[in-house]
Amino acid sequence: MAAPALLVLFGSQTGTAQDTAQRVGRQAQRRRLKVRVLPLDGYNVADLISESLVVFVCSTTGQGDPPDNMKNFWRFLFRKSLPAGSLSCLDCAVLGLGDSSYPKFNFVAKKLQKRLVQLGAAMLVPVGLADDQHDLGPDAVIDPWLQSFWEKVLVLYPVLSEVEPLRDDEPLPPSYTLHFLDEKTDQNPERIGTDPDRPVPSESSLFPARMLSNRRVTDPTHFQDVRLLDFDISGSNIQFSAGDVVLIRPQNSEDDVQRFCQLLRLDPESRFTLTPNSDAPDPVPARLPRPCSVRHLVERYLDVAAVPRRSFFELLAAVATSDLERDKLLEFCSPAGRDQLQAYCDRPRRTALEVLADFPLTTAELEPDRLLDLIPEIQPRSFSIASSLKVLPSRLQVLLAVVRYRTKLHRPRTGLCSNWLASLDPERGEVLVPLWVKRGGLRFPPDQDTPVVLVGPGTGVAPFRAALQERLSEGKAANVLFFGCRSEAKDFYFRSEWAAMTAAGKLQLFTAFSRDQQEEKVYVQHRVREKAALLWDLMSNKHGCFYIAGNAKQMPAAVRDALQFAFQQEGGVSAQEAEQMLVAMEKTGRLQSETWS
Ligand code: 2AM
Repeated sequence: MAAPALLVLFGSQTGTAQDTAQRVGRQAQRRRLKVRVLPLDGYNVADLISESLVVFVCSTTGQGDPPDNMKNFWRFLFRKSLPAGSLSCLDCAVLGLGDSSYPKFNFVAKKLQKRLVQLGAAMLVPVGLADDQHDLGPDAVIDPWLQSFWEKVLVLYPVLSEVEPLRDDEPLPPSYTLHFLDEKTDQNPERIGTDPDRPVPSESSLFPARMLSNRRVTDPTHFQDVRLLDFDISGSNIQFSAGDVVLIRPQNSEDDVQRFCQLLRLDPESRFTLTPNSDAPDPVPARLPRPCSVRHLVERYLDVAAVPRRSFFELLAAVATSDLERDKLLEFCSPAGRDQLQAYCDRPRRTALEVLADFPLTTAELEPDRLLDLIPEIQPRSFSIASSLKVLPSRLQVLLAVVRYRTKLHRPRTGLCSNWLASLDPERGEVLVPLWVKRGGLRFPPDQDTPVVLVGPGTGVAPFRAALQERLSEGKAANVLFFGCRSEAKDFYFRSEWAAMTAAGKLQLFTAFSRDQQEEKVYVQHRVREKAALLWDLMSNKHGCFYIAGNAKQMPAAVRDALQFAFQQEGGVSAQEAEQMLVAMEKTGRLQSETWS
């Protein structure tokens, strides 16, 4: 049987599944297979019936949901009208990326596998369930899974074993060629949000919102810098309701752009066009302007400030120009060097840019054609919207925790998006931030009579501020908020807003200041327990809805336990009955949570 063309389809929210899919693509190229790597929603699903070999790589997000770039595929695949044997010509394999600290671990991959089998597809290997929580990282599952996948493919297509695969240390041809133009940019046409003629297909949903203010809401002496960002979205037609999220794609700092260009000896103002090479597995990145300046590429596209993945080291090793550097890079990529790589890169959160600086000879010789294979695309970040159009028409507010922390490395680690946003100062000139909005996970009750209980410590309060603004403007008055922060004096943001709502008799507020007392810390879950009688009344007698949001990993489970306790204590039900009540509430959307890290 002739060698098949391989199709790798991915559903990826943060880029990890995309990176893994690309790795499968490279392995296929090394085996001289024709391969395409595409996001699931970038592929016409109806064409699946004419494919022969497909690998699906998909992550699971939030509450067991598929990533955004496979949502259409997901809807299509689960149509009842699809005939049972429609995929009976297909050989495929499903690799899931998940995190076992979430209850619906790898739910999407498992469900996809089941559905594909139902539609008649043959599974070459059991579904792979990679786990972020694994001591050795997700590769501990992915590596052996890929190995057994390829073994199976060889059995099915013996013709492949007659082809000598490219060795791992031989570089694959670059996916793209950059053609540099003679003229330079006489000015920088790609300042924030001012690219009117960029041919971006998703342009219709991107809006350059004017930043109105960027105000710190924590005390200047507080360890954490939290900002309230205010954007003007007039003229955008953007609509949203409480619980929705805004997406923002960050940019690299000017410092990083300069350092990167210096290391690679690139002129930021030079411009190029891009063509894919014939066996490139990916289509040309549609987001890049044509022509594109090096500055635009580095500032807005290449994620040089992220911790690089193993594939980065593999490619760098394959093109290394110094023996010493090559040996070190090869060591990092070898199974025996996994711990070393973790200690060098993952644990201290070393960035791609810093790694490049550590391998200066290889970096200086790096061909620009390699850049798009070497460094992944900057991914958009989503933030819960913290305001309501009902109270602040044409405005959109975001509550932003600026991420800065230390590792053993000299320079502090900084979150790309939050630090970029925090650095923007509308008082020094117009600031435009391209953004778009999508439906979030939280839904609030539409009717007047349903009370809500909102538990949002820290920036978790953001969607609840939007919900309260919305509800109060509609006259929905039964609102209870549990807010937690470290100290009443330093990070109790929005206190005057809550005070006004409380004074108007529209809000009951309970606070937990974790570090304002010498004794044990007080958290929102402790307050939930103390208010057991009120909560039982609201949930059981008044059929209220209960919401939890925040970034502390343990918090949602602790709050849920506290609610279970409240049901037991006040409702006189057993632990099991209380748990059943919670499960029923989750099923009907009366208990919802949204967490982020
Ligand atoms: P801490 O930092 O003093 O531990 C907002 O970040 C608030 O959430 C802070 O008061 C923080 O307390 C608290 N917090 C941290 N971990 C938590 C958890 N597991 N459950 C509830 N609140 C938590």
